[in-house]
Amino acid sequence: MGVESRILPAEPITTWAAYQGAGGGSGLAIARKLGPAATIDEVDASGLRGRGGGGFPTGKKWRTVANYATTGALAPTVVVNGAEGEPGTFKDRSILRRNPCAVVEGALIAALAVGAERVVIAVKRGFGAEREALRAVIGSMAPEWADGVGVEVATGPDEYLFGEETALLEVIDGRPPFPRIAPPYREGVAELGPQPSEPAGAVLAPGGAPPTLVDNVETLANVAGILAEGADWFRSVGTPESPGTIVCTITGATARHGVAEVAMGTPLAEVIDIVGGGPRRGRRLVAAMSGVANPVLPADRFDTPLSYEAMTAAGSGLGAAGFLVFDDSTDMVAVAAGASRFLAIESCGQCTPCKQDGLDIAARLERLCASAAEESDLAELLERLETVTESRRCYLAAQHQLVVGSIVDAFPDAVSAHARGSVPATPVELIAPVRELADGGAAVLDERIVAKQPDWSFDPIDSGKPPVERWAESEP
Ligand SMILES: Cc1cc2nc3c(=O)[nH]c(=O)nc-3n(C[C@H](O)[C@H](O)[C@H](O)COP(=O)(O)O)c2cc1C
Ligand code: SF4
Repeated sequence: MGVESRILPAEPITTWAAYQGAGGGSGLAIARKLGPAATIDEVDASGLRGRGGGGFPTGKKWRTVANYATTGALAPTVVVNGAEGEPGTFKDRSILRRNPCAVVEGALIAALAVGAERVVIAVKRGFGAEREALRAVIGSMAPEWADGVGVEVATGPDEYLFGEETALLEVIDGRPPFPRIAPPYREGVAELGPQPSEPAGAVLAPGGAPPTLVDNVETLANVAGILAEGADWFRSVGTPESPGTIVCTITGATARHGVAEVAMGTPLAEVIDIVGGGPRRGRRLVAAMSGVANPVLPADRFDTPLSYEAMTAAGSGLGAAGFLVFDDSTDMVAVAAGASRFLAIESCGQCTPCKQDGLDIAARLERLCASAAEESDLAELLERLETVTESRRCYLAAQHQLVVGSIVDAFPDAVSAHARGSVPATPVELIAPVRELADGGAAVLDERIVAKQPDWSFDPIDSGKPPVERWAESEP
């Protein structure tokens, strides 16, 4: 197996003419001939799973939204999740830079399938190159492509939670990125309030919000090919449960960093070699982690194929396939402390245990790293790992539990050496989103997390208030 270029071309395709020259556009034409129901059937048959991290079957999600949409008075919206803030990933930004037309075409096919009249592509304010690429292709799109569907770019804040889909919808509706308690369907964008013309029995949220389909950039970039070439073609690479390709990011303790598209089922070791050039000279790899969303995978399981089922069976998870790689020079307690710090700071504080226990875990890990732990620190840390997820509204708290818990389990000697103070103090590892990644070079991390306070300010002293409370106070 090796690099498989389906949605991530080696050279950027930034105009419609070049995109059509490479075969682009036929997916949308075929979807229009098939109609919504058969389009959803084709995506369903392809087995495409959401590439935002969860791996949820895309066809099933589309069908749910399409069915729900028929019961409402307002047309749904398709939202493209381009918020990419998972530490260790740069794949959505790479796709947006190199193949923006494929993302727009996939979103238009999704709009046709669920009956949406509007597509919103959401990216972070700081994603200049991606915004430019999108605005250029949307601005130059021939009217027949959109066929009446409005396509726009929305921008949001740097916060990690902006990528969480209900928080993303909050931002698009003009509010801060605080996750909602989610119903099984998605709604949001253009809340209109109860409509006098609502038909009896219309299923609308109290605010009158229509259903919304949220899909990741990479997920939608795959859709045009599925319609153009067929579900069987899509399944011609990958595994039966995880068909197609996956765009992987490799950063950390490898010879180089990069992004590449490979067939699902390619062993992680091979991807680390192809994309990252293997370990650095004289070093031995010890572990890898898919962002800060999945348990750590020790190196003796690097032969695991990159599929949702195999990575779960190996005790980890595929997530967004952005792998942070660690070698024998890495202090894994410092990695746990860095991941914990990131998650505790980025927690919004709507659920008290997520914020308070999260900060407590981060503080105890920092003391462990400094080999200055108090006697009770390790036991308290384990207790807080149990409670951090209590009454959680979104998955971030569970990530904290999984990531830190798995490192403590997999590296007990390192943890107890720090707890005894028998190893030198180590600085907390910087675990942060990738700010820039030139292929073959070294990823530039967003170091602002170091100065970011738990209240999300960059003030010299933290207010002690959770972000959600600070925000409420600043509201007029
Ligand atoms: C804390 C958190 C951060 C997330 N960040 C992203 C992100 O940056 N991009 C993304 O596509 N999905 C992200 N997700 C997953 C989304 O909530 C959602 O599952 C995804 O957009 C669905 O699209 P898909 O089905 O195409 O994967 C995040 C989830 C959580 C809990
Ligand atoms: S689990 Fe954490 S991040 Fe998610 S809503 Fe609750 S406090 Fe916010």
